[in-house]
Amino acid sequence: MEEKRLLEGICSAAHEAGRIMKEAVRPKVFEKSGHANFVTETDEKVQRFLIERLSELFPEAEFLGEEDGQDVFTSKMSHGYLFVIDPIDGTSNFIYAYSPSVVSIGLMKEGSPYMGVVYNPYDELLFKAVSGQGAYMNDERINSSDMPLSDSLAVFGTAPYYTELRDATFNIAKGLMDQCVDIRRSGTAAWDMCCVASGKCSLYFEMRLQLWDYAAASLIASEAGCTVTDTKGEPLSYSGPSSALCRAAGVKDIPEVFFRN
Ligand code: IPD
Ligand code: CA
Ligand code: CA
Repeated sequence: MEEKRLLEGICSAAHEAGRIMKEAVRPKVFEKSGHANFVTETDEKVQRFLIERLSELFPEAEFLGEEDGQDVFTSKMSHGYLFVIDPIDGTSNFIYAYSPSVVSIGLMKEGSPYMGVVYNPYDELLFKAVSGQGAYMNDERINSSDMPLSDSLAVFGTAPYYTELRDATFNIAKGLMDQCVDIRRSGTAAWDMCCVASGKCSLYFEMRLQLWDYAAASLIASEAGCTVTDTKGEPLSYSGPSSALCRAAGVKDIPEVFFRN
């Protein structure tokens, strides 16, 4: 299929998924395993909608999605095309009406990121990228900031149910505090990476993410000039969970605190 039409189709599916999120009225909330790990009926509805719409659009692709038991990566997924979907990234924000929450759709080709779309329906901001073709926010080209970390905001994420990662996460955040202007935590990893991509902040890290959290946003960030690695500077995994460190163009080196934790 023609690249432009495919990307447009993915963007239109993301817009419609955003509408489903905004129309939801007090959705039922279910608990998953671990502390404060939630899913709502809207997460499931959005994922079902996206799989239906995207499989009509691009029937040859496989799917990996966070919900509905579609969350297991198999070796056959490293070949051909694979949509990696997080129907709602920022589910706790969604439940408490504490925006942002976003729809995240990554398309992998032969195991590498090929297209990425992240949509925040509350601010009507759509981020998109195709490998090698730059990153865009609502059709405007974006570039990460070239300010040093000392003149920038930093952001980080941590899931409440990964209790074993708390000390390391907050130690790093504490260490970064003196090296940047201030630190934020939004509650959505895909949004955080898009914020680094669009120059709002210059560094984002998280000690453990799933592929659907970053498949789309890591491409958007790298196409905007960010360096996206794990927290030790190694390449991100595109077949399973990974830590993540996204640095804007102005943050040349990995701060030392990452190697101490
Ligand atoms: C979570 C968000 C959060 C991050 C967690 C993710 P979910 O995704 O991205 O910012 O800290 O690690 O699991 O559960 O809202 O889709
Ligand atoms: Ca997520
Ligand atoms: Ca999710």
